[in-house]
Amino acid sequence: MQDKLFIFDTTLRDGEQVPGCQLNTVEKIEVAKALDELGVDIIEAGFPISSPGDFNSIVEISKAVTRPTICALTRAVEKDIEVAADALHFAKNKRIHTGIGTSEYHIKYKFNSNQEEVLQRAVAAVKYARRFVEDVEFYAEDAGRTDNEYLARVVEAVIGAGATVVNIPDTTGYCTPYEYGAKILYLMEHVSNVHKAILSTHCHNDLGMATANSLAGVLNGARQVEVTINGIGERAGNTSLEEMAMIMCSRKDVPVRTDIVTRNIMKTSRLVSTLMRMPVQPNKAIVGRNAFAHSSGIHQDGVIKNRENYEIINPADVGVNESAIVLTARSGRAALKFHYERLGIKMSPEQLDEAYKKFLALADRKKDINDADLYVIAGVTEAEQKRRLKLKFLQVVCGKSSIPMATVQLVIDGEICTATASGSGPVDAAFNAIRQLIHRKVTLEEYLVQAITRGSDDVGKVHIQIANQGNIYYGFSANTDVVTASAEAFIDALSKIV
Ligand code: KIV
Ligand code: ZN
Repeated sequence: MQDKLFIFDTTLRDGEQVPGCQLNTVEKIEVAKALDELGVDIIEAGFPISSPGDFNSIVEISKAVTRPTICALTRAVEKDIEVAADALHFAKNKRIHTGIGTSEYHIKYKFNSNQEEVLQRAVAAVKYARRFVEDVEFYAEDAGRTDNEYLARVVEAVIGAGATVVNIPDTTGYCTPYEYGAKILYLMEHVSNVHKAILSTHCHNDLGMATANSLAGVLNGARQVEVTINGIGERAGNTSLEEMAMIMCSRKDVPVRTDIVTRNIMKTSRLVSTLMRMPVQPNKAIVGRNAFAHSSGIHQDGVIKNRENYEIINPADVGVNESAIVLTARSGRAALKFHYERLGIKMSPEQLDEAYKKFLALADRKKDINDADLYVIAGVTEAEQKRRLKLKFLQVVCGKSSIPMATVQLVIDGEICTATASGSGPVDAAFNAIRQLIHRKVTLEEYLVQAITRGSDDVGKVHIQIANQGNIYYGFSANTDVVTASAEAFIDALSKIV
């Protein structure tokens, strides 16, 4: 019987720290439910002392999701731990994740302290957390750059104080797989009470080694991995859940198993990508659009003869299903509904009507409607329904030797308002016209246009960041007309202020 590898998902904590990826409580509950269906063991739902929103999300997730353990992050600070215990009040299975930096850098430059004092603070935090919950995880922040001998003393002390899990984060993503694996092995061999707790990996991807490091940790004795959907997270991200799960499934020489329901991987990946407005890179392992696409003639021929000639994973095992029902401009609502159900997207009849209108408009302009388009249509539909400002009409005049002009009609709380403006280009002119109607001083901090596939008939996705009175607001839209998508993304961001 293989050992169980516990999957600790931190999409809603480390993943959600990414600028522009913040979710509201309703969206977090939706993700938590999807993680539950995916079979994760622990959901790190937030850092409750950091904001009332995080606190509230942990309360609501604890009520809505009862199978997995719900975990709340704290610093090694009593107040943090008390607030975390409060936030977890309704959780059926609860864990407090507390910790402190243990590397020379953190001890000297973050805490202006010394090793002994930090060790005492670690022990005190674990003991204090144990007053509230039975399951306490300790993290030795920047363990990747912490001297092994000192790290072993800290790990032994916190296990002695009652930690059930000890997390060894490579916070800066600096370790190599050999080094990280050796660190876990050192702890397995030098911490006398290590059998009383589980060692956990928590690897960041700054040098592209997060998954390799986590695997090295598992091969040397770690029995929990901390991961995020699509590998999202601070900077270059965290270890990706789908990669770890599929390594465990596909490699018979790895001595552990997980309880991940792999056929739910793709739909969870899409949900997180859509809600967090975070596109998945096309060549991303397991969940990228091209992960199972064979384009060269030789590969296609090989796959037709025997799938295993070029595929190590059956796409169906991760929820990628080819469909015989092709979507064209002549398809009806039933076909669209079939495809959304296949993708795991539930829609009310009204949402389906809205999506169908958009689908027809797109199908008129684009031969091939693929899954990526369907996700965009669904995302845009949902985002649009939430907006208080709506774009009713947009006309731009532009071209060589002309002055770009835009006329815009907005519906603002039910009232139609019109403005015309010029600009340095069609997008700038549209934004200037919108600005005239909003009467707010906003500055554009970021403007990103991305094509989804390859053709000139492609859908452009637009991400925008604007600033107003010191706050940052994010907007998103997608359309085959990038000027319209830009105006809608701008309005999406503005609606969050207005
Ligand atoms: O990367 C890290 O060290 C962390 C800890 C807070 C667990 O995210
Ligand atoms: Zn982290």
